[in-house]
Amino acid sequence: MKIKLPVMAALGLASIGHCAEPQPTLKEAFQNYFLIGAALNANQFSERDSRGAAIVKAQFNTITPENVLKWEAVHSEPDKYDFEPGDQYVKFGEKNGMFVIGHTLVWHNQTPRWVFRDGEGKQLTREALLKRMQDHIQKVVGRYKGRIKGWDVVNEALNEDGTMRRSLWLTIIGDDYLQKAFEFAQEADPAAELYYNDFALENAPKRKGAIELVKKLMAAGVHLKGVGLQNHDRMDWPTSQQLGDTIEAFAKLGLQVMITELDVDVLPRAARPGSADVSLKVAGSTSMNPYTNGLPDSVQQALAKRYGELFSVLIAHHANVKRVTFWGVTDADSWLNSWPVRGRTSYPLLFDREGKPKPAFDAVMKAATAGDSKAPARTETQ
Ligand code: G3I
Repeated sequence: MKIKLPVMAALGLASIGHCAEPQPTLKEAFQNYFLIGAALNANQFSERDSRGAAIVKAQFNTITPENVLKWEAVHSEPDKYDFEPGDQYVKFGEKNGMFVIGHTLVWHNQTPRWVFRDGEGKQLTREALLKRMQDHIQKVVGRYKGRIKGWDVVNEALNEDGTMRRSLWLTIIGDDYLQKAFEFAQEADPAAELYYNDFALENAPKRKGAIELVKKLMAAGVHLKGVGLQNHDRMDWPTSQQLGDTIEAFAKLGLQVMITELDVDVLPRAARPGSADVSLKVAGSTSMNPYTNGLPDSVQQALAKRYGELFSVLIAHHANVKRVTFWGVTDADSWLNSWPVRGRTSYPLLFDREGKPKPAFDAVMKAATAGDSKAPARTETQ
């Protein structure tokens, strides 16, 4: 089968005459810095999307489930668990030597209404909801004990001003719901790394709230291993200073930092900078969807420059960055094609809709090589 040259590069190959020469891949280029990976949808880890799966196997050494381990997907009704997709996801990861992540146990989104109500539809008591949370975490974390290495235990518990988001978890249980969630997860798999995950922590008010939150959890004896900075970024947000300061702010508390949902949106702004609040919906217009026939080269180059900048910051702080995960594999897979405006043509990742590496891919690889000359090799303990 004659594979087109650019696609060969995505598979870590280059064609010299008739034979395919191995090309440096992301996981090789960053082996001295941090794990590098992507969020996968079911088509990729089932390998129905064989091209997407091939890119994942060639380029990445860690994976995150985009949707299949969220409450609504794995536990859609009170006594009904559907572990088939989750099992397939974990098997794919193990078969390909990946550091397998679990996402996410407790979130205000993609959690069915029944979770917070009793059989008559009445809102649950604190005790009843804690029991339900414990059962779910024991079942899901317990099933993948020793196989899923790290869990986003609680996701997006803060408002933009750093105060606690008034989710049903908070209003029914109280603000110790996070501590309880971490305790239940630690009981279910004492060896798993446990993380708090959120977006826009690079904005000072929210970062301050998050630092207070994690300090409180650690003071309560919670085994918090690290904080996930989602980084649904824009061309002008966050600044290199904001990103660097945020990594160091959490590292100073002895926590690992992960970039957990990286993408860079080049489309016109339709939401607050850094927001990833999926409840926001904005009406479509051509001005909101300007690149339906491909990305102009000037924007391609600007995106490449932007990714080069971001990775230079991550490399400069690599001692405290354990992992960088892209939120999707190719532009065709990205949630930004349907958020906050449905049906947009977005270009936020390193591989295009044909699976070809974009100029942004080359810029990221260049940042790694540039870093090599400066950075000492990564030590096991990091
Ligand atoms: O499963 C249903 C399917 O049955 C139905 O036919 C289809 C039709 O609309 O919808 C499917 O559900 C979709 C689900 O993804 C699974 O594909 C939902 O509509 C869609 O809203 C949901 O979007 C996900 C979003 O979280 C929802 O919260 C995105 O794929 C996913 O990328 C996104 O990921 C979140 C992270 O978990 C947390 N941080 C922000 C990030 C982006 O919002």
